[in-house]
Amino acid sequence: MKIQTPYYLIDEKKLLENLKKIKYVREKSGAKSVLALKCFSTWSVFKLMSKYMDGTTSSSLYEAKLGYETFGKEVHAYSVAYPENEIKELKKISTKIIFNSVSQLNKYYKDVKNKNLGLRANPQISYSHFDLANPARKNSRLGVINKNDILKNINKIKGLMFHFNCENDDAKNLEKSFNYIGAKYGEILKKLEWVSFGGGIYFTKKGYDLKKFISLLKNFSGRYGVQIYLEPGESSITNSAQLHTTVLDVIKNGKNIAIIDASTEAHMLDLLIYNTPAKINTDKKNKYEYIVAGRSCLAGDVFGTYKFKKPLKIGDNIVISDVAGYTMVKKNWFNGLPMPAIAVKRLNGKTEIIRRFDYTDFKKNLS
Ligand SMILES: Cc1ncc(COP(=O)(O)O)c(C=O)c1O
Repeated sequence: MKIQTPYYLIDEKKLLENLKKIKYVREKSGAKSVLALKCFSTWSVFKLMSKYMDGTTSSSLYEAKLGYETFGKEVHAYSVAYPENEIKELKKISTKIIFNSVSQLNKYYKDVKNKNLGLRANPQISYSHFDLANPARKNSRLGVINKNDILKNINKIKGLMFHFNCENDDAKNLEKSFNYIGAKYGEILKKLEWVSFGGGIYFTKKGYDLKKFISLLKNFSGRYGVQIYLEPGESSITNSAQLHTTVLDVIKNGKNIAIIDASTEAHMLDLLIYNTPAKINTDKKNKYEYIVAGRSCLAGDVFGTYKFKKPLKIGDNIVISDVAGYTMVKKNWFNGLPMPAIAVKRLNGKTEIIRRFDYTDFKKNLS
């Protein structure tokens, strides 16, 4: 089937490879995994994902609602700060409500005291390649810093959430962190029912030491008598989607530049935020070098520099890989650019276009 570019293509078979690993970890270690919707909210593949995962975790009422309506199972609610109107609705749909601060817990405690509540703790350690995504950065607002503040409120909560990793593919580093958290919070955890280690653990990555990971999880939950939750975002969907694009123009300014019918700023914003290149499967040994650039007016709308086998020409297709995480949830209407359609290659091999966007979506987005 020929689909008009640009479009995101999610491949359920690829998705399944991650999901099977998640289920395996669950079966061998007992740790439950809830999908972090902030990373991936394309609910048309949730029917498949929900067979392998235990539910969703959210950053707002809308995400929690989406998880409740389209994924089912456990609905974990977390927010850096809840406004009053969100709490009322969250109370109806969530299985756990996690507060970011003691003041938020106390503000809403009387309304939600019958729910399974938790606090986010900030252990002041982290693994992250970027300060922007480092929850332990200076003056971080993410989670309760002072252990005594948690202790004083221990009777109100059933669990703690720690999110302190970002693309951590080093199981040895994780072991150190688990030991640190165990030593620092062990006595508190023994009084609780569950602990969440958040997201950012890259355990579905090829070559990750799953055996070690499973034994770390098992030992931790055994030692402190807690149900462990993981909140994989990127790990759930890594390598499962592509952005298909077409070359619209080829120009030269010092280097050859191919302009494609997509944009970093509108369709893959994190490339700009974290100053990283898009993944395009080319070989450094190839002869023809091009800057692949987006079609927005932003001067730095650049996907990266790549070497191709043949000279690029107008109409050529360029496929960007590993685009499921933090892309579709962040796409926007900058420059009024056509928003990529979303297509899914189902397990049976058939491709469905699940969503097309047009001018009316652009117009309706503002008024
Ligand atoms: C609290 C929390 N849980 C889970 C995640 C998902 O992280 P990742 O997509 O790196 O697995 C994040 C990401 O920022 C987060 O803040």
